[in-house]
Amino acid sequence: MCGIVGYVGRSEAAPILLDGLRRLEYRGYDSAGVAIVDGDRVETRKCAGRIADLGKLMTAEPPAGTYGISHTRWATHGKPTDQNAHPHFDQSGKLALVHNGVIENYQALREDLQREGEHNFTSDTDTEVLAHLIGKHFEASGSNGNANAKSRLVTAVRTALQQVIGTYGIALVHKDIPDFIVGARRGSPLVLGVGKEENFLASDVSAIVAYTRDAVYLNDFDIVAVEREKFEISSLAGEGGHYQVSKVEFTDEDIKKGDYPHYMLKEIYEQPGSVRDAMRGRLSAEECTAKLGGLEMTTAELRAVDRIVLTGCGTALHAGRIGEYIIEQLAGLPVEIEFSSEFRHRNTPMTGDTLVFAISQSGETADTLGALRESRRKGYRTLGICNNVASTIARESDGGVYMHAGPEIGVAATKSFTSQVTIMSLIGLLFGRMRHLSTSEGSEVIDALEALPAQIEETLKLTDHVKEIAKKYARSPGVLFFGRQFNYPVALEGALKLKEITYIFAEGHPSAELKHGIIALVRPEVPCVFIAPDDAVFSKNLNNMEQVKARKGPIIAVTSGGCAKRLEGIADDVITVPSAPDFVMPVLSVIPLQLLAYHMAVELGLDVDKPRNLAKSVTVE
Ligand code: AGP
Ligand code: GLU
Repeated sequence: MCGIVGYVGRSEAAPILLDGLRRLEYRGYDSAGVAIVDGDRVETRKCAGRIADLGKLMTAEPPAGTYGISHTRWATHGKPTDQNAHPHFDQSGKLALVHNGVIENYQALREDLQREGEHNFTSDTDTEVLAHLIGKHFEASGSNGNANAKSRLVTAVRTALQQVIGTYGIALVHKDIPDFIVGARRGSPLVLGVGKEENFLASDVSAIVAYTRDAVYLNDFDIVAVEREKFEISSLAGEGGHYQVSKVEFTDEDIKKGDYPHYMLKEIYEQPGSVRDAMRGRLSAEECTAKLGGLEMTTAELRAVDRIVLTGCGTALHAGRIGEYIIEQLAGLPVEIEFSSEFRHRNTPMTGDTLVFAISQSGETADTLGALRESRRKGYRTLGICNNVASTIARESDGGVYMHAGPEIGVAATKSFTSQVTIMSLIGLLFGRMRHLSTSEGSEVIDALEALPAQIEETLKLTDHVKEIAKKYARSPGVLFFGRQFNYPVALEGALKLKEITYIFAEGHPSAELKHGIIALVRPEVPCVFIAPDDAVFSKNLNNMEQVKARKGPIIAVTSGGCAKRLEGIADDVITVPSAPDFVMPVLSVIPLQLLAYHMAVELGLDVDKPRNLAKSVTVE
């Protein structure tokens, strides 16, 4: 689930592995470890806790050696303890393995191993079973010298993985096979970094981009044998693998925090640029429409689409919910929005001309990937809306739209959300202009979109005001978020941001639902945030605010235009964003909520970029 870094080369492995793990730290983890081979010893350091703790262990007793593997664990099987931290060993104690993912049949495999011979397990993890299984096959294949040992180890990995049900990204070393690492993947990302007299393995290219920008993104069922000066990719079935060396899109500079105290704040401030990049080259003033070549669909095919399904998880799902409003309004096409985890396991009624969009910043989310695969298996055209260019979802979809938002490191998604909503507008415009939207309506949409980057700049100037509000409410026991229409999903997103980084209980609801039960929660200690811009439902929102006010609930209102005046005497705090048409408003109205969550977390002294229990991309179901 979390992080893998492997190195084989001429430099000391320890600092490279530790540096790589630090760069993956943002993804969330609970333990960390390394195994470096030093002559005839496998030096292991591992512990529950932070990478800084692992760093201390490594400073106290520095492991030497020029090849090794390392890991950050996000526990799925067994508590986050020193013992359960990776690497894990086989029965011989010579083979060390790190693993991301879940071996679903580990219990059956463990019982089989124990029936067959002596296997002593020292952890509660599924991973250790895999280490023993590979080790068993390796030992059983005999020993005919070193050259042969490499192919024997690869064969042992292949045989073991053929018995595995589940997901994995793995890297392993064997004490008796110098300068050699084996990696494999299924369902968990793994990338090979190609260097000069050195090669790398990583679960995310950002771990190694400081050393090389040449990367091979491995496919599911690939097994890679990595040496200093060469590598060989084969498939689980034993065939030679096809691969392509690509240039990593971003540099090490792009993933630095710069002068910002946190990645989250940096990414909030990057939104004028990231939203601009989401529409760059995609708007045609002449035809008053959007151009999305990546969809890989002819005009006739686009014209034939009669239904759209949007699927995703968390923040991506919230962007999809806004997409439902946008596409239905601009294009008049029926849109269904589904949690990926639900969509893949049920039979959503679809027509032959239904188009499915899988929305995912990382492009690696297991639930969304599962939904994409299920949809494609059933024969529906399935497109990806991803940020991570070489991600599994991007590669497995029939086409799509890239966000081009640049690396998003903060676990709490911010800029990817506004990029996704922008792309929803592009899709709405494209389909709208093929249906009833006139040229003048099309150009109004374009004008609204093109105005956004400057309006985001304006909105960001509200940060000091939002910070004051954040200070006032940071110690609240709970916060409720309300919005209507396009801003109902913004309420969901505001609540999610707050939960993720402040751990304050928060809920988002359509404003009108207030009186159907939620009003029971209203009291002076629980602030209610209303996202109520100057739109057709403002007066309705105002009614709901009155209902809160009557019960002494504090009100924070995010509004726009002249409506701020109408909130005097009702809202305790008013945040006014620039005026904009309703379908682009969420891109602006969400920004104060991102800032609110951020400043509340900072006020509470919490680790904004590494919220507890969370991982940046969730590659388990
Ligand atoms: C957002 O702040 C969360 N960290 C989470 O809900 C996230 O949006 C979700 O896991 C989906 O991730 P994806 O976009 O990478 O698929
Ligand atoms: N399932 C393994 C464990 O619990 C790996 C978890 C991970 O992806 O970090 O140790």
